Amino acid sequence: MRSIDYKDWAEYIFAINNEIKIENDFTLELASGDCKLAYYLKEYFPKIILSDISNEMLLIPEFKHDLKVCCDMTIPPFKYKFPFILSAFDSINYLLNEVQLNKFFGAIFNLLTDEGIFTFDASLENNSIKNERRLNRKGKFNGIKYQQKSKYDNTDKIHYNYFRIILDNGQIIEEMHKQRVYKFFDYFSIIENNGLFVENCYDSFSFDDADENCDRVQFVVKKRN
Ligand SMILES: C[S@@+](CC[C@H](N)C(=O)[O-])C[C@H]1O[C@@H](n2cnc3c(N)ncnc32)[C@H](O)[C@@H]1O
Repeated sequence: MRSIDYKDWAEYIFAINNEIKIENDFTLELASGDCKLAYYLKEYFPKIILSDISNEMLLIPEFKHDLKVCCDMTIPPFKYKFPFILSAFDSINYLLNEVQLNKFFGAIFNLLTDEGIFTFDASLENNSIKNERRLNRKGKFNGIKYQQKSKYDNTDKIHYNYFRIILDNGQIIEEMHKQRVYKFFDYFSIIENNGLFVENCYDSFSFDDADENCDRVQFVVKKRN
Protein backbone atom coordinates (compact mmCIF):
# COMPACT_ATOMS: atom_id res chain seq x y z
CA MET A 1 0.00 0.00 0.00
CA ARG A 2 1.69 3.17 -1.15
CA SER A 3 -0.44 5.95 0.23
CA ILE A 4 -3.19 5.87 2.76
CA ASP A 5 -6.49 7.52 2.12
CA TYR A 6 -8.11 7.43 5.52
CA LYS A 7 -11.39 8.83 4.20
CA ASP A 8 -11.78 5.90 1.79
CA TRP A 9 -10.63 3.52 4.50
CA ALA A 10 -13.32 4.80 6.89
CA GLU A 11 -15.96 4.38 4.16
CA TYR A 12 -14.79 0.81 3.59
CA ILE A 13 -15.07 0.03 7.30
CA PHE A 14 -18.54 1.59 7.35
CA ALA A 15 -19.51 -0.66 4.42
CA ILE A 16 -18.23 -3.68 6.39
CA ASN A 17 -20.72 -2.69 9.06
CA ASN A 18 -23.39 -2.91 6.35
CA GLU A 19 -23.51 0.89 6.16
CA ILE A 20 -25.23 1.04 9.53
CA LYS A 21 -24.36 4.19 11.44
CA ILE A 22 -24.11 3.54 15.16
CA GLU A 23 -25.14 6.85 16.64
CA ASN A 24 -26.54 5.95 20.03
CA ASP A 25 -24.13 3.30 21.20
CA PHE A 26 -20.41 3.17 21.80
CA THR A 27 -18.06 1.63 19.28
CA LEU A 28 -14.39 0.88 19.92
CA GLU A 29 -11.23 1.35 17.92
CA LEU A 30 -8.19 -0.55 19.19
CA ALA A 31 -4.68 0.74 18.35
CA SER A 32 -5.99 4.02 16.93
CA GLY A 33 -2.52 5.54 16.71
CA ASP A 34 -2.72 9.25 16.04
CA CYS A 35 -6.45 9.02 15.28
CA LYS A 36 -6.24 9.86 11.57
CA LEU A 37 -8.76 7.17 10.69
CA ALA A 38 -10.99 8.11 13.61
CA TYR A 39 -11.29 11.62 12.25
CA TYR A 40 -13.36 10.13 9.40
CA LEU A 41 -14.92 7.25 11.34
CA LYS A 42 -16.55 9.70 13.70
CA GLU A 43 -19.07 10.60 11.01
CA TYR A 44 -20.42 7.03 11.11
CA PHE A 45 -19.73 6.22 14.76
CA PRO A 46 -19.97 9.49 16.74
CA LYS A 47 -19.56 7.77 20.12
CA ILE A 48 -16.40 5.93 19.10
CA ILE A 49 -13.88 5.22 21.89
CA LEU A 50 -10.30 5.51 20.68
CA SER A 51 -7.53 3.55 22.33
CA ASP A 52 -3.83 2.89 21.90
CA ILE A 53 -0.91 1.70 23.99
CA SER A 54 0.86 4.97 23.25
CA ASN A 55 -0.44 8.03 25.06
CA GLU A 56 1.68 10.29 22.84
CA MET A 57 -0.04 8.96 19.73
CA LEU A 58 -3.51 9.43 21.21
CA LEU A 59 -2.88 12.93 22.43
CA ILE A 60 -2.12 14.56 19.10
CA PRO A 61 -3.59 18.02 19.27
CA GLU A 62 -5.10 17.99 15.76
CA PHE A 63 -7.99 15.75 16.74
CA LYS A 64 -9.90 16.61 19.89
CA HIS A 65 -12.17 13.83 21.13
CA ASP A 66 -13.29 13.15 24.68
CA LEU A 67 -13.31 9.37 24.44
CA LYS A 68 -9.65 8.36 24.35
CA VAL A 69 -8.19 5.58 26.52
CA CYS A 70 -4.55 4.57 26.74
CA CYS A 71 -4.43 0.78 27.03
CA ASP A 72 -2.89 -2.43 25.78
CA MET A 73 -5.37 -4.05 23.40
CA THR A 74 -4.57 -7.52 24.78
CA ILE A 75 -5.90 -6.42 28.20
CA PRO A 76 -8.50 -3.76 27.41
CA PRO A 77 -9.99 -2.23 30.56
CA PHE A 78 -13.61 -1.98 29.33
CA LYS A 79 -16.57 -3.56 31.09
CA TYR A 80 -18.91 -2.99 28.19
CA LYS A 81 -20.19 -4.96 25.22
CA PHE A 82 -19.70 -3.20 21.90
CA PRO A 83 -21.75 -3.82 18.73
CA PHE A 84 -18.78 -2.83 16.58
CA ILE A 85 -15.03 -2.97 17.22
CA LEU A 86 -12.26 -2.30 14.75
CA SER A 87 -8.54 -2.13 14.45
CA ALA A 88 -6.71 -0.88 11.37
CA PHE A 89 -3.44 -0.66 9.51
CA ASP A 90 -1.43 -3.69 10.59
CA SER A 91 -1.96 -3.05 14.28
CA ILE A 92 -2.54 -6.75 14.88
CA ASN A 93 0.94 -7.42 13.45
CA TYR A 94 2.37 -5.62 16.49
CA LEU A 95 1.33 -8.60 18.61
CA LEU A 96 4.52 -10.60 18.39
CA ASN A 97 3.52 -14.10 19.40
CA GLU A 98 0.56 -16.44 19.55
CA VAL A 99 0.18 -16.04 23.31
CA GLN A 100 -0.52 -12.34 22.76
CA LEU A 101 -2.75 -13.07 19.79
CA ASN A 102 -4.82 -15.53 21.85
CA LYS A 103 -5.09 -13.05 24.70
CA PHE A 104 -6.24 -10.44 22.21
CA PHE A 105 -8.98 -12.56 20.64
CA GLY A 106 -10.07 -13.73 24.11
CA ALA A 107 -10.53 -10.06 25.00
CA ILE A 108 -12.47 -9.45 21.78
CA PHE A 109 -14.83 -12.29 22.70
CA ASN A 110 -15.56 -10.60 26.03
CA LEU A 111 -16.03 -7.15 24.49
CA LEU A 112 -18.46 -8.01 21.68
CA THR A 113 -22.23 -8.12 21.96
CA ASP A 114 -23.71 -11.44 20.81
CA GLU A 115 -24.34 -10.11 17.29
CA GLY A 116 -21.37 -7.73 17.32
CA ILE A 117 -18.76 -7.39 14.58
CA PHE A 118 -14.99 -7.09 14.96
CA THR A 119 -13.03 -6.11 11.87
CA PHE A 120 -9.27 -5.79 11.45
CA ASP A 121 -6.71 -5.96 8.69
CA ALA A 122 -3.50 -7.95 8.72
CA SER A 123 -0.40 -7.58 6.62
CA LEU A 124 0.75 -10.85 5.04
CA GLU A 125 4.16 -12.00 3.86
CA ASN A 126 3.72 -10.75 0.28
CA ASN A 127 3.31 -7.23 1.59
CA SER A 128 6.59 -7.44 3.52
CA ILE A 129 8.48 -8.89 0.57
CA LYS A 130 7.07 -6.37 -1.92
CA ASN A 131 7.58 -3.30 0.23
CA GLU A 132 10.86 -3.98 2.03
CA ARG A 133 12.97 -2.14 -0.57
CA ARG A 134 10.59 0.78 -0.99
CA LEU A 135 10.54 1.36 2.77
CA ASN A 136 14.29 2.04 2.85
CA ARG A 137 14.00 5.74 2.29
CA LYS A 138 14.70 9.20 3.58
CA GLY A 139 13.02 12.51 3.00
CA LYS A 140 11.26 15.48 4.50
CA PHE A 141 7.65 15.55 5.64
CA ASN A 142 6.04 18.76 6.92
CA GLY A 143 9.54 20.21 7.31
CA ILE A 144 10.74 17.28 9.44
CA LYS A 145 13.59 15.11 8.14
CA TYR A 146 13.22 11.35 8.45
CA GLN A 147 15.08 8.17 7.59
CA GLN A 148 13.49 4.74 7.49
CA LYS A 149 15.24 1.39 7.28
CA SER A 150 13.19 -1.70 6.69
CA LYS A 151 14.16 -5.35 6.99
CA TYR A 152 12.00 -8.44 6.73
CA ASP A 153 13.45 -11.47 8.49
CA ASN A 154 11.69 -14.34 6.78
CA THR A 155 13.08 -16.94 9.16
CA ASP A 156 11.57 -15.38 12.27
CA LYS A 157 8.74 -13.78 10.24
CA ILE A 158 9.44 -10.41 11.81
CA HIS A 159 9.38 -7.15 9.86
CA TYR A 160 11.61 -4.46 11.39
CA ASN A 161 11.25 -0.76 10.63
CA TYR A 162 13.75 1.69 12.09
CA PHE A 163 12.85 5.37 12.08
CA ARG A 164 15.18 8.32 12.70
CA ILE A 165 13.40 11.67 12.87
CA ILE A 166 15.24 14.96 13.05
CA LEU A 167 13.06 17.76 14.39
CA ASP A 168 13.41 21.44 13.47
CA ASN A 169 15.22 22.13 16.76
CA GLY A 170 17.80 19.42 15.99
CA GLN A 171 16.33 16.89 18.41
CA ILE A 172 16.68 13.33 17.12
CA ILE A 173 14.00 10.72 17.79
CA GLU A 174 14.75 7.07 17.04
CA GLU A 175 12.21 4.26 17.07
CA MET A 176 12.19 0.61 16.13
CA HIS A 177 8.91 -1.01 15.08
CA LYS A 178 8.69 -4.77 15.12
CA GLN A 179 5.81 -6.58 13.43
CA ARG A 180 5.11 -10.28 13.22
CA VAL A 181 3.93 -11.61 9.90
CA TYR A 182 1.55 -14.48 10.65
CA LYS A 183 0.42 -17.00 8.09
CA PHE A 184 -3.03 -16.38 6.62
CA PHE A 185 -4.51 -19.61 8.02
CA ASP A 186 -3.05 -19.04 11.52
CA TYR A 187 -5.57 -16.27 12.07
CA PHE A 188 -8.49 -18.59 11.36
CA SER A 189 -7.45 -21.20 13.92
CA ILE A 190 -6.64 -18.67 16.65
CA ILE A 191 -9.94 -16.87 16.06
CA GLU A 192 -11.86 -20.20 16.20
CA ASN A 193 -10.06 -21.17 19.42
CA ASN A 194 -11.46 -18.11 21.13
CA GLY A 195 -15.19 -18.68 20.60
CA LEU A 196 -15.26 -16.55 17.46
CA PHE A 197 -15.52 -17.24 13.73
CA VAL A 198 -14.49 -15.51 10.52
CA GLU A 199 -17.68 -14.44 8.80
CA ASN A 200 -15.75 -12.97 5.85
CA CYS A 201 -12.17 -12.36 4.88
CA TYR A 202 -11.56 -9.94 2.03
CA ASP A 203 -8.63 -8.87 -0.06
CA SER A 204 -8.24 -5.48 1.65
CA PHE A 205 -10.19 -2.49 0.30
CA SER A 206 -12.38 -4.81 -1.76
CA PHE A 207 -15.11 -7.37 -1.14
CA ASP A 208 -13.24 -10.10 -3.03
CA ASP A 209 -12.41 -13.22 -1.06
CA ALA A 210 -8.90 -13.19 0.36
CA ASP A 211 -6.30 -15.96 0.17
CA GLU A 212 -2.76 -16.49 1.42
CA ASN A 213 -1.32 -14.68 -1.63
CA CYS A 214 -2.87 -11.32 -0.78
CA ASP A 215 -0.77 -8.45 0.53
CA ARG A 216 -3.27 -7.34 3.13
CA VAL A 217 -6.49 -8.97 4.24
CA GLN A 218 -9.54 -7.68 6.03
CA PHE A 219 -11.17 -9.99 8.55
CA VAL A 220 -14.78 -9.74 9.68
CA VAL A 221 -15.20 -11.68 12.89
CA LYS A 222 -18.25 -12.57 14.96
CA LYS A 223 -19.03 -14.50 18.11
CA ARG A 224 -19.98 -18.13 17.76
CA ASN A 225 -23.32 -18.30 19.63
C1 LIG B 1 0.71 1.02 12.29
S1 LIG B 1 0.05 1.89 13.65
C2 LIG B 1 -1.65 2.06 13.13
C3 LIG B 1 -2.33 3.22 13.77
C4 LIG B 1 -3.74 3.50 13.29
N1 LIG B 1 -4.61 2.37 13.48
C5 LIG B 1 -3.78 3.97 11.86
O1 LIG B 1 -4.54 3.38 11.07
O2 LIG B 1 -3.08 4.92 11.49
C6 LIG B 1 -0.03 0.65 14.90
C7 LIG B 1 -0.48 1.16 16.25
O3 LIG B 1 -0.61 0.05 17.14
C8 LIG B 1 -0.30 0.51 18.44
N2 LIG B 1 -0.06 -0.69 19.27
C9 LIG B 1 0.96 -1.57 19.17
N3 LIG B 1 0.83 -2.54 20.10
C10 LIG B 1 -0.31 -2.26 20.79
C11 LIG B 1 -0.98 -2.88 21.88
N4 LIG B 1 -0.51 -4.02 22.45
N5 LIG B 1 -2.13 -2.33 22.34
C12 LIG B 1 -2.62 -1.20 21.78
N6 LIG B 1 -2.02 -0.54 20.77
C13 LIG B 1 -0.88 -1.07 20.26
C14 LIG B 1 0.89 1.41 18.22
O4 LIG B 1 1.09 2.27 19.32
C15 LIG B 1 0.47 2.14 16.94
O5 LIG B 1 -0.20 3.33 17.22
